[in-house]
Amino acid sequence: MDRRLSLVVLAAGEGKRFRSEVPKPLHAVAGRPLLWHVLAAAAPLGADPAVVVVGRGADQVTAAIGGFGLGQVRTAVQAEQLGTGHAVACAVPELPPSGEVLVLYGDTPLLTTATLTALVGAHRAAGAAMTLLTCQAADPTGYGRVLRDDAGAVTGIVEHGDASPGQLAITEVNAGVYVFDRQALDLLGKVQPDNRQGEYYLPDLLPLVLAGGGTVASASADELEAQGVNDRAQLAEAGVVLRRRALEALMADGVTVVDPATTYIDVDVTVGRDTTLLPLTFLEAGTSIGQGCTIGPNTRLTGCTVAEGASVTQAVGVRATVGPRAVVGPFAYLRPGAELGPGSKVGTYVEVKGSTIGAGSKVPHLTYVGDADIGEHVNIGAGVIFVNYDGSAKHRTTVGDNAFVGSDTMLVAPLTIGAGSQTGAGSTITQDVPDGALAIERAEQRNIPGWVERRRRRAEGDDRHDATPGGDREAPA
Ligand code: UD1
Ligand code: CA
Repeated sequence: MDRRLSLVVLAAGEGKRFRSEVPKPLHAVAGRPLLWHVLAAAAPLGADPAVVVVGRGADQVTAAIGGFGLGQVRTAVQAEQLGTGHAVACAVPELPPSGEVLVLYGDTPLLTTATLTALVGAHRAAGAAMTLLTCQAADPTGYGRVLRDDAGAVTGIVEHGDASPGQLAITEVNAGVYVFDRQALDLLGKVQPDNRQGEYYLPDLLPLVLAGGGTVASASADELEAQGVNDRAQLAEAGVVLRRRALEALMADGVTVVDPATTYIDVDVTVGRDTTLLPLTFLEAGTSIGQGCTIGPNTRLTGCTVAEGASVTQAVGVRATVGPRAVVGPFAYLRPGAELGPGSKVGTYVEVKGSTIGAGSKVPHLTYVGDADIGEHVNIGAGVIFVNYDGSAKHRTTVGDNAFVGSDTMLVAPLTIGAGSQTGAGSTITQDVPDGALAIERAEQRNIPGWVERRRRRAEGDDRHDATPGGDREAPA
């Protein structure tokens, strides 16, 4: 018995009901394209080869698959969408001549690895030539109905559009997930397009397998697993289920989710034990949170890494790294390449881009940090701007350990602020500052004693005099 497993995923369809320029397999749900979900569910089965049948938007879909990070996946092109049976036939030249073939449709993102593993097990246990997954559907509209004889053996599948009124009442539906013996696929040439849609239906292989003396087995799964996504309403419904599963898995692993209804977690986001997720937290694809963190409320992190014990409040982060015990927000924006060291702080109305902030350094208020390397235990005063852009190019600034940058300092890059140095508040610093120095750049202050009182008297008694400060050229008394 050759048990080498191949995988075929059908993703060539028109996806008409999406009314979109984007091919249906690439529409995202819970942070990943539809097709990614199906391939991810199958990946642990280790099928080789894995072949995706592409058609509509073939180039785009093929290019995207390369970036999925789900191992080696080949594509086969179905130039004309003549039906699911025809689509599988397009993949056959990519398959070895024997073994088992798992066939999935690319629009069923709720399929689980456990169900696929069980289906392959059922196929092997029954010594079947074809095994299909079926579900009891509360509303079977649109699905193929499973036909059984009096003994309960599967005899065929009839599509919704081809079903008689009696068949429409059947609630057991075809999930569109099958295991075939590779040889059974040789019968695809005999499938005829004699149905309402004039298509070559993959389920029509079933009676041909039976006629050839093969065994057809079935396994059943929860209705959700079959849920095909044919339009954007179904895409949103699938998102609800995928997010709920992600939240349930996190809570089971020891994460506190204060309000699951307003917490949005993409698939494959990881969160450590004893972390608390506060309401209106969005953890998007590629994000990983350590243990004992507090995230939210009102926080959106995409592709971010947050280490243990950190707290992120009312913040937006994109491809940023937050070190252990660092404190972020409220109202902070971490842009790509922001790397916050252990115990550092990025506070209120602070934006950080392409910069490292060393251990224990603090940027507490109203600051833009762009393209900077800030050492350890640095204090950045309120209202500091790292002036990184001269209108044509970006430049970097380095701030040494233990430096103290005064409030409202403009640091005009390229620039090096030495270790242990200080800048005077309100300075525009354009030249490097040596270690331990004070850099101060501002006009000297002039105090004019009694000026306010004199102005008031003039304004009341004698309006021949100009009472504005600029008009008063009188030297200090
Ligand atoms: C299909 C099944 C139906 C099952 C349902 C489960 C058939 C004929 N019907 O119906 O029994 O209950 O799925 O969700 O198989 N595709 C191609 N090339 C084609 C046509 C389709 O690659 O020529 C792909 C589509 O991109 C899609 C998948 O096959 O990923 C299923 O096609 P779809 O048109 O969505 O089939 P359903 O009508 O949902
Ligand atoms: Ca479908």
